[in-house]
Amino acid sequence: MVEIFDAIKKSAIRIKWLIENEDASYSQNINATGDTQLKLDIKSDLIIEEEFKKISSVKEIISEEKENKTPIYENGKYLVGYDPLDGSSLLDVNFSVGSIFGIYKNAYDGKHMIAAVYVIYGPVTQMVTAYEDVGMYKLNEDGDFAFIKSLELKDSGLINASGGTHTGWSKKHHNLIEEIYERGARLRYSGGMVPDLHQILLKGGGLFSYPSTSDTPKGKLRMVFEVFPFAFIFEKAGGEAIDGKRRLLDLIPMHPHDTTPCYFGSKKEIELVLKHNE
Ligand code: AHG
Ligand code: MN
Ligand code: MN
Repeated sequence: MVEIFDAIKKSAIRIKWLIENEDASYSQNINATGDTQLKLDIKSDLIIEEEFKKISSVKEIISEEKENKTPIYENGKYLVGYDPLDGSSLLDVNFSVGSIFGIYKNAYDGKHMIAAVYVIYGPVTQMVTAYEDVGMYKLNEDGDFAFIKSLELKDSGLINASGGTHTGWSKKHHNLIEEIYERGARLRYSGGMVPDLHQILLKGGGLFSYPSTSDTPKGKLRMVFEVFPFAFIFEKAGGEAIDGKRRLLDLIPMHPHDTTPCYFGSKKEIELVLKHNE
């Protein structure tokens, strides 16, 4: 596992350089989920592929930016699903973006998830890993990621971040969000799941949701590259992650690019989600 974390660190340092120095415009290509790729989405993906190709414990990888899986070492133990540059459409407005990794054994689902990692490229670059516990690291000027602290969610928090077109929200979702605000929550939504979920983890609690909407009935966020890694991290940090009713890590994707509605939060907020979805 150490060598996988090392490959992620090396990729992150290279991607940070790209973000700061390279052209953030769109390419002519469309990815498997129908998004037009930025040149940086493609380059970040290639960097990660290049770094994982050096790691003999990696059997196979699959990226949000590629339709198909890429075999690496036949005798490798781990499968890695990753989103090379999450929130890349926010690069032009200079918001934080991230890279997300799910490390699996045998199959790309929650039962087979071994570890999850994300990197956030903000005013500073940080990395959060969930393996035995959840730890946050900061990239220093000497190129090392120094351990900062362990992350743990409180039982409840007053940050609310809900995505999806409001006019497409169900009545249930409107009622849920209304109750959350009535309890004193504040809106904190950047439109990048990495900074939005990072904020909830760092501030100790709250709720992030990307529900089923009339325009995206299965939500927008992708299970293998985005949802399972964060579900794993939230559970390890003492929170919960559900699709409205079921635990996200119990879902089995039919296709690596499948999406699901998702709710990540501290225990009390997830209780509310369940109450509104009864
Ligand atoms: P990506 O940039 O990898 O395509 O992902 C963007 C995702 C996620 O970061 C965010 O939570 C969500 O899209 C935002 O969607 P809306 O713009 O629909 O709120
Ligand atoms: Mn993404
Ligand atoms: Mn992406």
